[in-house]
Amino acid sequence: MGYETILTAEHGDGPLKAGVVTLNRPTQLNALSDTLMNELGDALRRYDADDGIGCVVVTGSQKAFAAGADISEMAEFDYVQAYREDFISRNWEIVTTVRKPVIAAVAGFALGGGCELAMMCDLVVAAETAKFGQPEIRLGVIPGAGGTQRLPRAVGKAKAMDMVLTARLIDAAEAERIGLVSRVVPAERLMDEALAVADQICRLSLPSIMLAKECVERAYETPLAEGIRFERRIFHSLFGTGDQREGMAAFLEKRAPVFRHE
Ligand code: CAA
Repeated sequence: MGYETILTAEHGDGPLKAGVVTLNRPTQLNALSDTLMNELGDALRRYDADDGIGCVVVTGSQKAFAAGADISEMAEFDYVQAYREDFISRNWEIVTTVRKPVIAAVAGFALGGGCELAMMCDLVVAAETAKFGQPEIRLGVIPGAGGTQRLPRAVGKAKAMDMVLTARLIDAAEAERIGLVSRVVPAERLMDEALAVADQICRLSLPSIMLAKECVERAYETPLAEGIRFERRIFHSLFGTGDQREGMAAFLEKRAPVFRHE
């Protein structure tokens, strides 16, 4: 697509493939510049709209997933500029509007906006080398891409306050222990594992996958009773799909299902 700051590729040998977006500003440790976030948003939107794509993997380099928002771009901001340009909300939030699953494959630094970007994804596969942190307080600001909200929801108040108020970095083992990441693997296996997760998702029924994601997301937005009610309606609605017929028939006939995503 002629992007400057990201690379894109497709992976898989089934009818649905995984879109893979690699953040690619190696000399700035993948600092999340405005251009990068525009390009990431564009790639995610394209994959979300592409009928041949079942999910997306976002990754960086071995040294850095992303070392945060680009400090050189922010350093001279004033309040009015940040507000008028709708900084962060304008392009970063696109990540949270993707309806297909988004997997973050994280090695090295995931700091500030990098940690926040990982938290916007649905599943985080981390290399043993990964380091997560919200060091914005050292810059005289606070996390501004959802860190003060998503981190406590993911790991609870005690760890979130520790990370946000002291800028302490945590390693992959601690991140897994406290619920920030889904899986930890040796660095050399990171992409294999992330792509295996992606392939597994791509082999399942896309409408069920998308609705399952929507239901889990709803858990963060609604009281329990409303969330359960929402889940129940979605569950009922899935009995209107061919994939439910096929999935259950295949189980009973002791064969692999062939989902048609309808
Ligand atoms: N923005 C812009 N440039 C950055 C950057 C960032 N967030 N992080 C690293 N870089 C640049 C460095 O300036 C350096 O560039 P030069 O070679 O031109 O000097 C290059 O990347 C390599 O970085 P270091 O030399 O610092 O590498 P290191 O291995 O010694 O240290 C590090 C790595 C600990 C990650 C360190 O780079 C660092 O602390 N980076 C900043 C982390 C940070 O504060 N992130 C939060 C940003 S604010 C934010 O994200 C707001 C928000 O919530 C949305």
